[in-house]
Amino acid sequence: MRKNIVAGNWKMHKTQKETVALLEEIIAKKPNTTTEIIVAPTFVNLSKAVEITNGKGITVAAQNMHQAEGGAFTGEIAASMLTDIGVTTVILGHSERRAYFHETDALLASKVDTALKHEMRIIFCFGEELKDRQINNHFNIVENQLRDGLFHLEKKDWANIVLAYEPVWAIGTGETASPEQAQEMHKFIRTLVEKVYGFDIADNLTILYGGSVKPDNAKEIFLKPDVDGGLIGGAALKADDFLAIVNGF
Ligand code: G3H
Repeated sequence: MRKNIVAGNWKMHKTQKETVALLEEIIAKKPNTTTEIIVAPTFVNLSKAVEITNGKGITVAAQNMHQAEGGAFTGEIAASMLTDIGVTTVILGHSERRAYFHETDALLASKVDTALKHEMRIIFCFGEELKDRQINNHFNIVENQLRDGLFHLEKKDWANIVLAYEPVWAIGTGETASPEQAQEMHKFIRTLVEKVYGFDIADNLTILYGGSVKPDNAKEIFLKPDVDGGLIGGAALKADDFLAIVNGF
């Protein structure tokens, strides 16, 4: 049975004081739910977030990590540094990392390998740009991102993979993929994974949708059979909005 997840990617928002305040509000108002709630604050606030959420049924994730075990990589964070402070989930391949920090599919494949070596769970993001969709090339783009980033993995590795389909044109724009567009792509993704890895892995795979998910559109997107939750940006920065999205299930 696959898991429903609502994950908040806080991006480069929230000081430590603001992080504590938001987490305390989320904890106080959190519904009793089987949906896994994940928050991904910035690196400098991860330790504090782990401390505050301990035993509260909230998972803390990192937004990125480096592929090397360690070394002369100024400004970077290694997998062992994350697991050491209790962070065992990491977002990789977000479109902002791909666009602004030039992360390629090959680099992401290497980050995935390192994270798995450290027994971390990966929320692997991918999605097409508007120009791809306009020429009806979005399925090809997504297939290539998955093949190049993840399809070198062995079957056993998929227990630690969560996918997050995020059409770039829907991120932070207020323009959401329609529930039908999300379902169409999620179904395509699950079928593709099934072709390569078989029914059980595909059926158990959690596939999140991300891109302008808000309290007023979450429910109709989450109702689609191949959408197992969301990766939320802007709306994850207010406890009431984020938890209203969690309640979309
Ligand atoms: O990681 C989250 C996504 O980039 C979605 O961001 O909800 O602000 O569109 P958004």
